[in-house]
Amino acid sequence: MNKSIPVNTPLLSGNELKYVTECIETGWISSEGSFIKRFESEFSKYVNRCYGIAVSNGSAALDIVVKALGLGHGDEVIMPTFTIISPAQSIITNGAIPVLVDCEIDTWNMNVNEIESKITNKTKAILVVHIYGLPVDMDPVLELCKKYNLLLIEDAAEMHGQTYKGRKCGNFGDVSIFSFYPNKHITTGEGGMIVCDNKDIAEKCQKLRNLAFEPNGRRFVHNEIGWNYRMTNLQAAIGVAQLENIDKHILLKRKNGLLYSRLLSNTKKIILPVLEKEYSKNIFWVFGLLLKSEENLNYVVENLNKIGIGTRPFFWCIHEQPVFQKMGLFKNQSFPNAEKIARTGFYLPSGLGLNESEINVICEKLKKILNDL
Ligand SMILES: Cc1ncc(COP(=O)(O)O)c(C=O)c1O
Repeated sequence: MNKSIPVNTPLLSGNELKYVTECIETGWISSEGSFIKRFESEFSKYVNRCYGIAVSNGSAALDIVVKALGLGHGDEVIMPTFTIISPAQSIITNGAIPVLVDCEIDTWNMNVNEIESKITNKTKAILVVHIYGLPVDMDPVLELCKKYNLLLIEDAAEMHGQTYKGRKCGNFGDVSIFSFYPNKHITTGEGGMIVCDNKDIAEKCQKLRNLAFEPNGRRFVHNEIGWNYRMTNLQAAIGVAQLENIDKHILLKRKNGLLYSRLLSNTKKIILPVLEKEYSKNIFWVFGLLLKSEENLNYVVENLNKIGIGTRPFFWCIHEQPVFQKMGLFKNQSFPNAEKIARTGFYLPSGLGLNESEINVICEKLKKILNDL
């Protein structure tokens, strides 16, 4: 194979250059500027929310949200163990305690049937994370939040445009967040967005993304601590252009995911992702798959990489993160499904710039490697 196929390639085929040029020509390159407001308003409208707060990335969005909701010392937040580190570290750095649940073996999303048994009188919130392409089964989560009066934080970082029973992801949380890293359905290079319907929470988030400057007080006098988590107008300009093409991007990812699934069907030694559940169709943010045997993961990934095919392993479980173990957290906890997925899962090139013939090549090469095992 002559050309390598990276794990991700964004698609910047719309008005990105035009809008960024406009920022440069007008000098509006900081976090002030009309594209910020436009991106916030158009994206929040896209997910049917009243407020959008653009920030520097999805992890920053989670930090701000945990703080804005007043979650702190001793508060418990129920979340999945199979996810990126960002939600757990936002909870921990704010002094609260993540209480973990295992995931489903087929969708890789948190097992909502395990949540209720974890609720204590310290539980303040449930933090759901939609993983890789299918959303969490939201109805039971909404019921629990209502029954126990819990806040709902929705990490929809990977789930732009996905729906659960026809309702957009990002529309469920008291506060929901997105990421716009270049492997997402739409990108701003680096970037994130907080969305919600509550004016007070929105204003709190706006303040916390901006060094906690008092919106109406004397400039440079602060009553609390907040980082600089602002998005620039340049990034928002790219975001506005990307949003114009979001439906096309989602269709493309789904088409690529279905092609992968078809070409790899009946291949031994692997388990393919679920195409759909009764509540949603997979939008394949990434095309992930599991190897039936844990021992083969390094061999397969190394051999794909050797011939220039980019891959990533699945997330590593939160309860097994060395950094948290060093802090004495999650001692003697085990979550068999998540541990299995983390040890056998990886994803293939999934970028929007990927073409059909590349997917054909990837599948052929993968089958050959699997045959040689
Ligand atoms: C589920 C989830 N949450 C949060 C994040 C963090 O987003 P960012 O990389 O923009 O900080 C990611 C990143 O991909 C993610 O997948």
